[in-house]
Amino acid sequence: MSRKIEIFDTTLRDGEQVPGCQLSTEEKVVIARELELLGVDVIEAGFPISSPGDFLSVVELSKAVSTGICALTRSKKEDIDVAAEALHHAKRGRIHTGIGSSDIHIKTKFNSSREKVLEQGVWAVSYAKAKGYEVEFFAEDAGRADLAFLAQMVEAVIAAGADVVNIPDTTGYCLPHLYGKRIQYLFEHVKNIHKATISVHCHNDLGMATANTMAGLIAGAGQAEVTINGIGERAGNTSLEEVAMIIRTHKDLDLHTNIVSERLYGVSNLVSDMMRMPVQPNKAIVGANAFAHSSGIHQDGFLKNSENYEIINPSDVGVPTSSIVLTARSGRAALKHRLELLGYQPSKPELDQLYEAFLIVADEKKNVNDADLMVIAANTSLLVQK
Ligand code: KIV
Ligand code: ZN
Repeated sequence: MSRKIEIFDTTLRDGEQVPGCQLSTEEKVVIARELELLGVDVIEAGFPISSPGDFLSVVELSKAVSTGICALTRSKKEDIDVAAEALHHAKRGRIHTGIGSSDIHIKTKFNSSREKVLEQGVWAVSYAKAKGYEVEFFAEDAGRADLAFLAQMVEAVIAAGADVVNIPDTTGYCLPHLYGKRIQYLFEHVKNIHKATISVHCHNDLGMATANTMAGLIAGAGQAEVTINGIGERAGNTSLEEVAMIIRTHKDLDLHTNIVSERLYGVSNLVSDMMRMPVQPNKAIVGANAFAHSSGIHQDGFLKNSENYEIINPSDVGVPTSSIVLTARSGRAALKHRLELLGYQPSKPELDQLYEAFLIVADEKKNVNDADLMVIAANTSLLVQK
């Protein structure tokens, strides 16, 4: 039977940490409602102790949606107390607490020892658990942690009651096959690992966040932590739309999510506009060029059968249609197709003549739009508009 992957969206926490992307509580509520309609399972709404604004956002999002609401904390009593208070109205609340797990974090961030951070993490899980919410534990910088120590930590926090254990590649350091092996190692060495959901949270510093997330899911993790458009600290987080569409496209993985993929493009635009963070044109799934075909060979093949060059139907992600961009690289097939859409039915000699005129304009203008085509068509009096 197909395995369900929980989608944990951290656009409003890790994503919102991006300089210039800060949102008001009202804006966060608008996005949270869209995330709920999109079908995400948990929304990480903020880090309540960090500011009154973050506290308020967790309160208001808890009231606004029925989706699980998560609040981030350090492994500290005051953080957990404040998060528990902020989650009061959540239909399903989750405290996300944790501590560093790599030696570099333990020594240079906490000036501590493996034994002490482990003890602190276990204490934090037990303390959070007593608040009556779901508890997720993050082993920060798990991508660089000593694997045997990481396994010891995961086992201890599960014994303390963690419902979910997050294995973040905080610095985006891991290679996909090695991150997958880390997750597999945990499944093979941690006692009672099936009592908790293992979560993957990958950053994109080397451009491998999505690949690492998929490797972790394939190795058995049950939750993916993602953001819309992959926004997040530094080079960003794993992008929700990529993970959702990889899982939907690769039926062979035998995984599924609750994401309503037809809403992806709309939510991507909303987040991009509200966070003033443009989406790069070549971004997978939601970029402006994701379904645009511009070279003659591709256009000809696409017009014969769209599956020659598209593995996703654009309407599956809410993009109204693919586009054929007319440039000097375009061939006669693409020109004919666009002329037909404009109501022209050129004969073969007419098309040849028109193509010559088209190439001159294309060299000059780079992209030839419909208005340019109408002028070209009018100037070549051979054409009869049907
Ligand atoms: O990247 C990270 O390690 C995090 C944790 C706070 C979960 O964002
Ligand atoms: Zn992160």
